Amino acid sequence: MNKNVKKIAVLPGDGIGPEVVAEALKVMNIVAQNRSIQFNFSPGLVGGASIDAHATPLTDATLQMCLESDAVLLGAVGGPKWENLPHAQKPERALLKLRKELGLFANVRPAKIYSALIDASTLKPEVIGNIDLVVMRELTGGIYFGEPRGVRDNGQEKVGINTLVYSTSEIARITHAAFDLSRKRRKIVTSVDKANVLDTYQLWRDVVNSIAKEYPDVKLSHLYVDNCAMQLIRNPQQFDVILTENMFGDILSDEAAMLTGSIGMLPSASLGPRSAMYEPVHGSAPDIAGKGIANPIATIASVAMMFHYSFDMPAEAMAIENAIEKVLNQGYRTADIAENGKVPISTQEMGKLITTALQSELK
Ligand code: IPM
Ligand code: MG
Repeated sequence: MNKNVKKIAVLPGDGIGPEVVAEALKVMNIVAQNRSIQFNFSPGLVGGASIDAHATPLTDATLQMCLESDAVLLGAVGGPKWENLPHAQKPERALLKLRKELGLFANVRPAKIYSALIDASTLKPEVIGNIDLVVMRELTGGIYFGEPRGVRDNGQEKVGINTLVYSTSEIARITHAAFDLSRKRRKIVTSVDKANVLDTYQLWRDVVNSIAKEYPDVKLSHLYVDNCAMQLIRNPQQFDVILTENMFGDILSDEAAMLTGSIGMLPSASLGPRSAMYEPVHGSAPDIAGKGIANPIATIASVAMMFHYSFDMPAEAMAIENAIEKVLNQGYRTADIAENGKVPISTQEMGKLITTALQSELK
């Protein structure tokens, strides 16, 4: 069999990152054993791990390796050890730099309920229903990157400044990404802004409206961000694709994630024209790092997104999702999602159960 070889940059990072990434790599290897694809994994340090080794959260060499890869798999960055470093040296800077340098403007964060875990949500089951939504977050623009920025002294006191900038082309490309994705789903786009107050968001709304004309089959509506935050709790089933800018997407995607009750389960993809990065939505969870109890499902589900978006292998992506679902339906839980009185299984046991289930899915 002639194997299609893919180069994967593997950046486990800090805290539970290495533990959950190890299980996700096993899942990738199971697919490789059963299909005509092969992975060359190049490991690299990121975040605090890189600060400890190289005094910077992301070295040029690691960035270069990511630029030359077909996809990046990232665990998590950060932890108390590095919390008090100056802003520009914090582990989180690595994420922002990777996003910018790799051109990953489209951040896809699905929030989907696993039926076995419906009771994990803090919302009533009838409100949650069958939620299946995606936050399409713009990831390389807006106030995260706008200039001027910084803290200055005006002679009397300090003044902090950040700038909310979006150009027409930046808005247009993320809008296309959202509409294209919605066409593979329920064809509903909700664009979120604050056009009633800020000029940048009026431009956002105007550009979204003009691009929507190319998608007459997709239903578009607009919400102000405060209303959207409320609607997500009031009636989350109305949403299919939520299209929004960088900072609103940061906030709303955490809110959407919590609807499912288990942020430890949610994957993400960050996509650009040349590169793609996949990572769990949860952080480095330093309090449980090294104990072998972290939930690897979000990272494994991120690998499913990799098969979907980077390798155009939707059947294999589905097989991974089915394997996760099967293991949950059998009642297995890591500590974060275990019901009271149930004995949780370890990170490795969860990984093993999913790879075994996947093996039979791929037959
Ligand atoms: C996220 C995180 C990051 C962000 C931080 C860690 C820089 O919250 O990916 O949502 O704000 O984008
Ligand atoms: Mg966030």
